[in-house]
Formats: sequence, C-alpha cells, structure tokens
Amino acid sequence: MMIRLPGLIDIHTHLREPGATHKEDFATGTAAALAGGITTIFAMPNTQPPLIEADAFHLALDAAAQKARCDYGIYLGATADNAADLPSLADQAAGLKFYLNATYGPLLLDDVAAWRKHFEHWPVDRPIVAHAERQTLAALLFVAGLHDRAVHICHVSRAEEINLIKAAKDRGQPVTCEVAPHHLFLTTSDLPVDQDGEEEPWEGRMSVRPRLATPADQQALWDNLDVIDCFATDHAPHTLAEKDSDEPPSGFPGLETILPLLLTAVHQERLTIDDIVARMHTNPRRIFNLPEQPETWVEVDLQDEYIIQAAQTHTKCGWTPFEGWKARGRIRRVVLRGQDVFKDGQILAPPGYGNNIRAHQP
Ligand code: DOR
Ligand code: ZN
Ligand code: ZN
Repeated sequence: MMIRLPGLIDIHTHLREPGATHKEDFATGTAAALAGGITTIFAMPNTQPPLIEADAFHLALDAAAQKARCDYGIYLGATADNAADLPSLADQAAGLKFYLNATYGPLLLDDVAAWRKHFEHWPVDRPIVAHAERQTLAALLFVAGLHDRAVHICHVSRAEEINLIKAAKDRGQPVTCEVAPHHLFLTTSDLPVDQDGEEEPWEGRMSVRPRLATPADQQALWDNLDVIDCFATDHAPHTLAEKDSDEPPSGFPGLETILPLLLTAVHQERLTIDDIVARMHTNPRRIFNLPEQPETWVEVDLQDEYIIQAAQTHTKCGWTPFEGWKARGRIRRVVLRGQDVFKDGQILAPPGYGNNIRAHQP
C-alpha cells in the first residue's frame, strides 16, 4: 500500500560544513535527507570554525545556499562571551544551541552565568535548544524557569531525563524534547563485547553522545511517547576509517534510516503513522514556527521489505549502525515545492534547490 506523508523535518543534523567536508557537506547531507523523506533539515553549529559569530555563520549560509538540495535552517552556537552579539543574527538562524555536556567539537558552555546571559539576550520568538544530560538537564530546567524561557531538549536518552521532562511539563513549564532513533532502537546491549573487562566499555563504532543507554532507559522512552515532541536524527557523520580508529569520534549517521526504522515500528504496532507525522512535521513546525512547504509530500510503500545497507545510502560517511537490519516501508518518491526531488533511489534535486526557511519567511 502506498501512502503520502507531509515533507518531514529533521531539527537536528550535523552537516560538517564548513571544515570537515570529508565527512559530509551540504550537497551530500541534503541528498541523504531527501532519500530519507526529509525535506527540511536544521544544521548544527559545531563545525570548524564553529558558528558562533557572523563570519563563520555566513560561511555556512553561503555553502548551504549553493549546495543544499532540500530546505534548511542553521543554528548559532552559544559561547561564554557571545550572548550580546548573537541577537543581530537571530532572524537568520534556526535557533540557538547550548552545548552543556562535552561532545564532539569545541563548543561547551559550562558556566551557568553564561546560560543566563543568553536567556536574557536571545529573542523570545527564536528557540533555544540544548544538549543537556542528566543533572545538567535538571539545572537547565531550573534556570530556564527563572528566566521564564521555553527550552527544547535535544536527544533525550535516559529514564531519569524523560521523567524529569514529564514532571516539568506536568507543572506547566514550557519545555519540549526530541528523541533520536538510535536511542529508540539501540541500547548498551549493542555495544561491542568488552574483551578487556575494563570498567568503561569500549564503544568502538557505537560511540555516540549521549551514549547508548540501558534497555530500561530505552523502555522508558517508548513508555513515554506522549512526552516526546519530536523525533530527530542527530545525523552525525564520521567516516568508517575514523569510527574504526583507536579514538573513534562519537556520532551516527541517521537521515536515511530514521523513517524506515519508524515505519518498521509502525508495522510492529509499536507506533502509528500519526505518531510519526506529529513528531517529524506538525510539532517541529509549531516549535520552530516554520512556513508551509506548498506542494510537498513523501510517497511511501508500506509493504516493501528490504535490508538496510550503507552501500545504498547517499551520505558521505559510508556506514550505518543499522547495517543488515530488516526494514519494512520504503520511500519511493519525494516532491518538494512541486518538483520531484527523489524518485526510486535517484536524487533529482540539484545543489542549490533548497531554501533557507528563515530567509523565505514572510
Ligand atoms: O555523538 C555525537 N556526535 N553527539 C553530539 O552531541 C555531537 C555529534 C557530532 O557532531 O559528531
Ligand atoms: Zn548533542
Ligand atoms: Zn547533535
């Protein structure tokens, strides 16, 4: 059976441009997005240089304008001393990103006074999104509450975190959150077997931040679907050679597997199509105040069963943590603003077809 979905929105993507285009760039990353049924991506600011001031931000905006095949927004990154300067760029940005735990890249905001400065300066109609794990999440919710500011929490992975967000929502705090597919479908039991018996398990290719969590944490996410506003890939491509090195950088590609994995879960009756549309279209549009994409849809064959293979993907990174998984539900065709942009495995949108969702807002 063929069904039509609206153009999906991925609010959390790392496209590595500027600075690490051997891992991904705007042309390959947005090709991967279209192949995955995603017609809008929001690119993260932990690039090289990081997108923390006007020059770097414009490098990314220019690269995207020339190379993006789908629509896009670009985040700015918060630092200890850029709070007063960012508002002048806010109109052009998808939102502001707080990195509050150590992860890939140079951005880390570990001074609570700096969080407060950003809450004071950043315009209220532009979202603030945060990488905030465990106790850091509790601290952030408290400080956001002091400033009466909405926050969006990235890639929630643990029971303690989803329960905290549920409690905050129950008290009326304006907080929203996303979950990444790897935390819905992988756990610590998927880590490589630790032959050394060391306390810190060797993650190898499975290194990702937040780390893969326990099966109990994963169950808590599925048990609290109603608390999860968005599904977002956290597409974080690193090459296979980098992932198989002695110091594997953290991150998984995800743009081309999120929808097949979610559709497979629909087949297994763990989810509904409406659950997907709410979390990858309706809620992202509301949270980020996105314009409509006219004449835009995704055609999916719900019955088609196949094996996920990196060899068939468009991302530059050349691997997937879901290699060999059986999926049910294939993306056949994607139409973006009246044009066929993906059809039967072929990317049809040229680099530059994508619009900046902020530049084209009324
Ligand atoms: O695993 C991760 N990789 N987590 C992050 O927060 C950043 C990302 C990246 O940029 O590679
Ligand atoms: Zn993150
Ligand atoms: Zn990320």
